Amino acid sequence: MKVITSISDMQESVDAELRLNHTIGFVPTMGYLHEGHLSLVDQAKKENDFVVVSLFVNPLQFGPNEDFDQYPRDFNRDRKVAEDAGVDVLFCPQAVEMYPRTPVVSVSVDQRTNVLCGQSRPGHFNGVATVLTKLFHIVVPNRVYFGRKDAQQAAVIEGMVEDFNFRLDIVTCPTVRETDGVALSSRNIHLSQTEREEARNLYQSLQYGERFYNAGETNVQQLQTKVLEFLEKNIHEGVIDYVDVLSYPDLTKKQTCTGDMIIAIAVQYKKARLIDNIILIGK
Ligand code: PAF
Repeated sequence: MKVITSISDMQESVDAELRLNHTIGFVPTMGYLHEGHLSLVDQAKKENDFVVVSLFVNPLQFGPNEDFDQYPRDFNRDRKVAEDAGVDVLFCPQAVEMYPRTPVVSVSVDQRTNVLCGQSRPGHFNGVATVLTKLFHIVVPNRVYFGRKDAQQAAVIEGMVEDFNFRLDIVTCPTVRETDGVALSSRNIHLSQTEREEARNLYQSLQYGERFYNAGETNVQQLQTKVLEFLEKNIHEGVIDYVDVLSYPDLTKKQTCTGDMIIAIAVQYKKARLIDNIILIGK
């Protein structure tokens, strides 16, 4: 596996693959790799000749009071995990390489952000869209892999790829979970033992909502209330940030479930904000 830190070296490596008519699969990450990331790498390896993983904690997507400094980082561990997983290139630029000056142009996301994490993290998706635009231009991937856990991110980026005519496919892969249902996240490392135990209730609340939907409940307010009640009963260490039921991928409010819908939740613990969701497939 090659470790590349400069944009020009990354572009050279990509050009060599393109000359061979190789397809490129790309997994953008902020590091602290876990099984969730590895499931994306596995999928990318199945579908492409060459797999690039980026490792970059993007300052643009963190608000002033968010966890940029605390975001877990362990380069040596990530390098080994990526190498063992069969990644071809680990692209890990420094911030000054990605943003050598105040950007003249950045990406502003207009839809799908006034709800869920977009509401509590103003500017977050602009930062995500801006860094991914740069990374897509640098890596020139055929396919880019995202986890379903970050469903709003996937919906925003799918929209951006369509709007800006990027010649790549977004592949969204299922959320990888611990045996008790907790969605894997680099931030889980910051949970205390009690918080970690309690966190299993996030997925359980989503399954609880899904059961009502499967039993025929299509009133959005009712579903939202059921999930919220479950969380209020079972979450004591954390603070519930939001519970919402929206159309997917448009992320608009509806009164009745029509087409695919998402139940999405976020809980703020002391040092980690956890998000999770479940997609309700339209009947
Ligand atoms: O999901 C993430 O880890 C980040 O938002 C991403 C896509 C790597 C952009 O910085």
